[in-house]
Amino acid sequence: MSKLPHPLFWTGIFSDLINPAQLNLRPFKSRHSLLGDPALELETLTETLLRLPQNQVRYTTRRLDAGDNFEDTFRKNNGNKSLESTLRNMLSTDALIMVNSPEIDPIFQPIYEQIMDSVSELVAYRDAKRRILMPTLYLFLASPNSVTPFHIDRYSTFLFQFRGTKDVYVGHPWDSRVVSNADCEAYVSYANTQLPWCDERQQQLEHFHFQPGEALHIPFVSGHLVKNGPDDISISLSVIFNTEQTMMWRRALNFNHRARRALKPLRVAPAPVGRNALRDASKAKLWRTFQSARGMEGA
Ligand SMILES: [Fe+2]
Repeated sequence: MSKLPHPLFWTGIFSDLINPAQLNLRPFKSRHSLLGDPALELETLTETLLRLPQNQVRYTTRRLDAGDNFEDTFRKNNGNKSLESTLRNMLSTDALIMVNSPEIDPIFQPIYEQIMDSVSELVAYRDAKRRILMPTLYLFLASPNSVTPFHIDRYSTFLFQFRGTKDVYVGHPWDSRVVSNADCEAYVSYANTQLPWCDERQQQLEHFHFQPGEALHIPFVSGHLVKNGPDDISISLSVIFNTEQTMMWRRALNFNHRARRALKPLRVAPAPVGRNALRDASKAKLWRTFQSARGMEGA
């Protein structure tokens, strides 16, 4: 008997039909119903960001390039202006502000709960035991024409747009033309977060024009690059989360990173992650055993 296809459904904040089976298989867009929340207005955000703990608000006032190291950029604040001056001059400068867990401010609680409820429902579709793990919200404010460098995420992501437009370029997960197997393993293992980039690579990514009221799913380890539109400040939120499956992939990628180094003198490379669920699960189990033996938590 042939398998029935996964039915499409919509849930909570997602206003379009979504196929839950496509989670982490390919990027896709949906409309969302979160527009109009006063917490996301620029004036309100300026006040909120100034009262949040400053170690949660990272920013740069330098225009970034697609090939820059995204994670290094935000390890320390990279600008010679104060946060207040950066916020008040967003329209005329080259600023990019990233806020980790803005929901610690009560003004973000309603939107945080709506996002968590909807994403949890999507992940648990057809299997109530499937949960989202370590969900975290990020807020991004960006000047016109600013660029978020090419990078991958060690988790699944939904991005929600509230103001301004973006062009988002997203690769398909496990596409080694976009991110090589060795680079993906090193990135997920925190060994090297500088991904090679050349402009031709953009042609291997799927292009999404992204505007207020839209949400975009970026699968686990899909290479992506964001370019803001020229006319306005961009305000967006993203939720990042893991699942049992992405945690298994993370462990398998950590295993492969070490195995690749060990096998290099023999000119042998480990089989790539993301092609065979049984093989990935075995590697993840070995990695977990190795970590336990060293007295460490899982990857
Ligand atoms: Fe990202």
